[in-house]
Amino acid sequence: MNSAEIRQRFLKFFEERGHVVIPSASLVPEGDSSVLFTTAGMQQFKPYYIGKANAQKDFGSLNTVSIQKCVRTSDIEEVGDESHLTFFEMLGNFSFGGYWKKEAIEWAYEFITKDLGLQIDFVSVFGGEAEVPEDKESREIWKSIDPNITVKKFGRADNFWGPTGEEGPCGPTTEIYVNGIEIWNIVFNEFYQSRDKTLKLLEVKGVDTGMGLERLVKVIQKTPTVFETDLFESIMKAAGSRIVADHVRTSCFIITDGVVPSNTDRGYILRRLLRRAYIKNKNVNLVVDAVIINPSYNGLYIFAPNIKEVVTQELEKFEKALNAGLKQVEKGADPFVLFTSYGLPLEIIEEVTTIDKEKFMKQIKEHKQLSTERGSQKFKK
Ligand code: ALA
Repeated sequence: MNSAEIRQRFLKFFEERGHVVIPSASLVPEGDSSVLFTTAGMQQFKPYYIGKANAQKDFGSLNTVSIQKCVRTSDIEEVGDESHLTFFEMLGNFSFGGYWKKEAIEWAYEFITKDLGLQIDFVSVFGGEAEVPEDKESREIWKSIDPNITVKKFGRADNFWGPTGEEGPCGPTTEIYVNGIEIWNIVFNEFYQSRDKTLKLLEVKGVDTGMGLERLVKVIQKTPTVFETDLFESIMKAAGSRIVADHVRTSCFIITDGVVPSNTDRGYILRRLLRRAYIKNKNVNLVVDAVIINPSYNGLYIFAPNIKEVVTQELEKFEKALNAGLKQVEKGADPFVLFTSYGLPLEIIEEVTTIDKEKFMKQIKEHKQLSTERGSQKFKK
């Protein structure tokens, strides 16, 4: 089964069970300044969980289903392992006061075991912690579906999700493990967490689920890692390494949603992704082509000219700065000039030269202090 088919099956399964299909929101979240990128399928639906918007009125149903583009950058150092990606697609079904635990769990079980024919290793439920009690109801539902299923109980770190950003809906979860990896996270949004971290019960309970498409495809296509699935096959050929494949694929989607490289926020993340990819593979442009022509991403095609222009411009600029800096270093200058005069981040300098990291960090700290002092002196005058 290829990835396009898996996407379609998921949407159809929930559409047949009263969910309205909603397109992915942009990777740049609208009206939620507390996060740089969209990190979960529920993000575009936040107002519906807290009664600020009415799903029945807007969608004609209390239940929706979507495949959301997501970017999570906190895992950037883990990119290159078997299942962590910077960009991924999240399959999710949602309810805003419609159904609750029984339907959510029964449908998840049915989709995984019947539609996809996968075997569940075990599931987990929230075991209770602090003021939030154990989720006995979910355990009983799992046992009523399959008396032999293993139900593990985990604490807040594993089985409580949210909020995205600094405040929002959140709640206990039940999670499904297949082939040793967690593939589906089913969140029961019962609470609203405020900025001061206190939890208040939501007036209307909601369901929010998320299943990473790439991991699911890996399990279905039985590949050693996500990088051998049809989502990555052609991209890996051009990229040569997982990091380059991940970073270029992510960059293409971020650019499509209107971000350009810069020295702050989203633009800086994009800049870092492109530069890091370039250091490892000078043919980033060929990797961009491989992403655009990948049949799994046919929606990118119309954005191809823009993606290519942004990438080319950024990397031409970077190549010049990098080469000029490296020439200075070859001539005997301290690699530190790459930082002070050419603005290269430490991780890039580490890749292209040999440095004593501890000494380097100390130098950076002193340099920053000095610039701040100079800055404030200037200000005093
Ligand atoms: N919102 C939940 C997650 O991102 C489903 O894992």
